[in-house]
Amino acid sequence: MTTEHDTNAASATDGATSGALTEDRRLLDEYNDVHMHVFGTPLRVLDHGQGVHVWDVDGNEYLDFLAGIAVNSIGYAHPKWIEAVAAQAAQAAHVSNYFATRPQIRLAEKLIELAGAPKGSHVYFGNSGAEGNEAALKMAKLYGARLRDELGTDKPYRIIALTHGFHGRTMGALSATWKPAIRVPFEPLVPNIEFVDANDIDAMKAAFDAADKGPVAAVIMELVQGEAGVLPLDADYVRGVRALCDERRALLIIDEVQTGMGRTGSWFAFQREDLGGVTPNIVTFAKGVAGGFPMGGMISFGEELSSLFSPGTHGSTFAGNPLGAAAALATIGVIEDEGLVQCAEARGEQLRTDLRATDNPLFEQVRGRGLLNAIVLKRPCAHAAVDWALEHGLIVNACAPNVLRLAPPLVVSEQEVNEAVVILSQLPDDLPDD
Ligand SMILES: Cc1ncc(COP(=O)(O)O)c(C=O)c1O
Repeated sequence: MTTEHDTNAASATDGATSGALTEDRRLLDEYNDVHMHVFGTPLRVLDHGQGVHVWDVDGNEYLDFLAGIAVNSIGYAHPKWIEAVAAQAAQAAHVSNYFATRPQIRLAEKLIELAGAPKGSHVYFGNSGAEGNEAALKMAKLYGARLRDELGTDKPYRIIALTHGFHGRTMGALSATWKPAIRVPFEPLVPNIEFVDANDIDAMKAAFDAADKGPVAAVIMELVQGEAGVLPLDADYVRGVRALCDERRALLIIDEVQTGMGRTGSWFAFQREDLGGVTPNIVTFAKGVAGGFPMGGMISFGEELSSLFSPGTHGSTFAGNPLGAAAALATIGVIEDEGLVQCAEARGEQLRTDLRATDNPLFEQVRGRGLLNAIVLKRPCAHAAVDWALEHGLIVNACAPNVLRLAPPLVVSEQEVNEAVVILSQLPDDLPDD
C-alpha cells in the first residue's frame, strides 16, 4: 500500500513528456537535483492558493480536494489567518520554552475546552503529528512503568497498536505504524509494541489476556484510519476497546492527527454521536490545527496522568511557538465563526451522496466521515486516476493502489463539491493499473 508521501512519481514523467508545463518541469528538475528522494517527484510546482483553489507556476488552476493532506482546514490565504500570523510575526515569532506567550496559553486552554477534557488536563505542543504521538507514547511508557510496579510484575508492559494504523515516521511513532514496508527496514524499533487486527474485539481481548506477557499500558489507534484508505472503525469496537482499557487500567490514546479539528464533522472524531461518549486518556492532534503552520501535540486527560511529565521529561525548541499558536488560534476562530464543523458534516454528506449517485462503473464504494472521504476503485488504478483528475483541474490523492482520498478544506462550498463530483464522475474506467 502506498501512503501520502510515496505516490507521486508517475505524473511528473507525464508532465515532462506533455511539454505543457515548461516552468513547472524546469523547477521539478531542479527539485530532483537537490531534494532527498523520499517523496517521489512532486506532481506540480504550486505557486499560490485562494480558498479551495490553487494555481501552479504555469498558471493552471486546480480545485484542491487534498488540502495539503487534510491540513489547510480553512483553505488557502484566509484573511483572518494572514492577519493573525502577520501580527504575531511583527510582535515575536519565537521565544523558546524558557518563556511563555499569550497565544500559547490561550491555545492550550482552547484545545482543552474543545476536547472536553476535564480540569487538570494538560497540553504538550510539538511541531507535527509524529511528535504528538512521540509525546503520547513516552507518557504511555511512564504510565506502563508505574502500572508494572503497582501490579508487582517484572514482565515488560506492552503497547497495542492496530493493523493498518499510521502514526508517523519518527522511531516511536513508526514502531506503532503497521505498514511493514515502511517499518520493517528500521527494526529493531521500540520494543513491546504489538499489532492487533483492527475492528476485531476478540483479538483485542486475546491480546490483553495473553497470560505469559506483561500488562498493557496503552492502546493507540485512529478512529478513521486515514492513510490505510479512510477506514472508519466500528462504533461498537471503539466502545469495546474503551471498556477493555478501563477494565485493565490501560490508557487509550486516540490519534486525531488527521481526523481532528472538525474534519470528521465534530471537533474530534471521538466526539461523534455514533460513538456515544467514548473519551481518550490522550488525544493527539496536528495537520488541520494551525491551518498550514506546522504544529502538533497531545492532550493528556486529567491531573494524575498529566503529572507523569515533569520538567526535563520531554521537550522541543519550537514547541508552542507563538507564531504557530497564533496561526492555530486564528484557524480555530475561523472554524467557529464560519460554522465549519457543521459544514464538514453537511458537505461530506453531499459529497458521498452525490458520488454514489454518479454510477461511475469504476467506483466500488464511497466511504468516510465528514470531509475525510475515499472512493474505493474496482481496480488498482488510483495513481492514474490522480493524474487524470489533475489534468482535469482537480487535486485528490491515492492512499492505496485502489483508493482515492478526498479531504478538501472545510470551507468548501456546495458548488465546489458539485464541481469535484462532475470531474470524478467522468473518471474513465480504462485507466492503467499501477
Ligand atoms: C493519523 C496520523 N497520525 C500521525 C501522522 C503523522 O503526522 P506528521 O506527518 O505530521 O508527522 C499522520 C500523517 O499522515 C496521520 O495521518
